[in-house]
Amino acid sequence: MSSGVRIAVIGATGAVGKESLEILEERKFPLAHLRLFASKRSAGQSMKCLGRSWKVEELTPDADFSGIDIAFISATDDISREYGPRLAAAGATVIDDSSVFRMDPQVPLVVPEVNPESAHQAQRGIISIPNCTTTPLVMALKPLHEAATLRRVVVTTFQSVSGTGAAAMEELMAQTRALFLFKEPEVKVYPYQIAFNLLPQIGSFSEDGDCSEEIKIVNESRKILDLPQLRITATTVRVPVMRCHCESVNIETEKPLHPDHARELLSAADGVAVQDEPSAGLYPMPLPSTGKDEVFVGRVRADASVPHGLNLWLSSDNLRKGAALNAVQIAQILVKAH
Ligand SMILES: NC(=O)c1ccc[n+]([C@@H]2O[C@H](COP(=O)([O-])OP(=O)(O)OC[C@H]3O[C@@H](n4cnc5c(N)ncnc54)[C@H](OP(=O)(O)O)[C@@H]3O)[C@@H](O)[C@H]2O)c1
Repeated sequence: MSSGVRIAVIGATGAVGKESLEILEERKFPLAHLRLFASKRSAGQSMKCLGRSWKVEELTPDADFSGIDIAFISATDDISREYGPRLAAAGATVIDDSSVFRMDPQVPLVVPEVNPESAHQAQRGIISIPNCTTTPLVMALKPLHEAATLRRVVVTTFQSVSGTGAAAMEELMAQTRALFLFKEPEVKVYPYQIAFNLLPQIGSFSEDGDCSEEIKIVNESRKILDLPQLRITATTVRVPVMRCHCESVNIETEKPLHPDHARELLSAADGVAVQDEPSAGLYPMPLPSTGKDEVFVGRVRADASVPHGLNLWLSSDNLRKGAALNAVQIAQILVKAH
């Protein structure tokens, strides 16, 4: 890859795909060639990246994937399932955004600030990135675990509509506009109106009553932190916010962990920024987190209801650290290793 990297972005026209192009540009990625794929709807469009215009190709089963070094897939589960192994077989290292391969023992699930060494263990030629709520959560949990050993984690998420993709962002805008014009809002993407509402459901429900997003957070956190027995439970909520996911996190630790010490540990953690002066009105929120790379953590305080309890609140841009940025950082690790 010394003369530059040949990249493909599958799902280039989506919410994550567009962000990926911006981040490749911002980070001056050593690009030799770029191929962009999307559905028939977008084929022929031009998109800009690193000072050049690139044509979007239609993704078809007879596409020739030879000569691609790294392929980002940010499309749908079905596309990841079908094209991930095909791109890997053609010689590309695949960095996949979907949940399809995340729990496969031969597929590393990577957050560069937490388990970067796993990026070199892609036995199937595929690396997964976590769910957009798992990534900021494990970034905050890792330094706290190393200092005080996690005993239990309870997390409640407040997830923006961009986590569902471009169509959901349009739906929130369209419903808001309709309501201000005293019209009936159209409901297409979610089971209920999302504008001026919130939905305690993300994904489908299991027989036990958990929704699929909650199960992902539990399983993925255990895999990335390499804590298969970690006691962790989640409730995931969709909120009428355009971008950035927030999480209320309650932890119990084996050893005592003072909030001041927790703040110091979080401030020193890669990719984490502490915003915690509540009396001055400083705490993490979606709007100021938008477009930022860091996971912002605040409201760090003792939970006196258990011997060693701590509450914290975090906010992170789901399209950046929750998806595109995490994937590009993994690509940078791969490029550096060559
Ligand atoms: N949004 C997030 O915060 C987030 C975070 C982590 C992971 N992810 C994952 O990232 C992936 C993409 O999410 P997104 O939010 O970017 O979704 P999105 O905005 O809906 O974009 C989907 C992309 O996939 C393309 N696509 C859809 N059907 C296709 C087909 N049949 N053939 C070829 N291309 C097709 C779309 O092309 P057209 O524009 O032509 O329709 C578009 O480029 C998903 O797997 C999602 O689970 C998302």
